[in-house]
Amino acid sequence: MEEKIVAMPRIGDKAPEFTAVTTQGPINFPKDYSGKWVILFSHPADFTPVCTSEFMTFATMEKQFEEANCKLVGLSVDGLFSHIAWLRTIKEKIEYKGMKDVEVKFPLIEDITMEVAHKYGMMQPGESATKAVRAVFFIDPKGIVRAIIYYPLSLGRNFDELYRALIAMQTADAFNVAMPADWRPGDPVIVPPAGSCGVAKERMDGKDKEVTCHDWFFCTKKIDKETVLKAVLKK
Ligand code: BEZ
Repeated sequence: MEEKIVAMPRIGDKAPEFTAVTTQGPINFPKDYSGKWVILFSHPADFTPVCTSEFMTFATMEKQFEEANCKLVGLSVDGLFSHIAWLRTIKEKIEYKGMKDVEVKFPLIEDITMEVAHKYGMMQPGESATKAVRAVFFIDPKGIVRAIIYYPLSLGRNFDELYRALIAMQTADAFNVAMPADWRPGDPVIVPPAGSCGVAKERMDGKDKEVTCHDWFFCTKKIDKETVLKAVLKK
């Protein structure tokens, strides 16, 4: 069989458009989500254990993402009735790590034709020709792809990291800063690089009391946790 070659969206691209049937009714993507962040994520198959653990975790954290102005949208190449049956099973029967009676309220796209999965590069034939890998697309309120993370079939995602990445990107936008390794709200952030020899010298001379420089090109400042959360979370 001829392999379908598709261009995957990249960071900075407009999120590819599609309409789809979901467990919460039809959606027009990304138009329906204008003004909000969205995490569009794929999973390999319904009624599988890793995916079940992921859906329970994501559903449990949905309110937390909502408070950060972020909607969740799932996808697999299963059909709508399979999705409905699986989500009902999760709610009615599955207890896992203290989570039970978990209702998945965010939309889960049916993509039997794999049209959306191909558009987003979620089908990776080296891993599986018939199942989507665990892809995560962060799409900003203007419909631009801001981050992409991929995991293989055998590895469940770290949802704390997905939340951390979301808050970090929102904070970077709000304060025009960059985030160092392992940044969490309250940790120092990186200020834009010195744009002239004069500014570089001033920074190294310690003229800006708000800024701490490890060298002229690597300067940080403090933004306290409360200020970060006030800027990114809905009240
Ligand atoms: C799972 O979710 O458990 C799974 C799905 C596809 C392949 C391997 C594991």
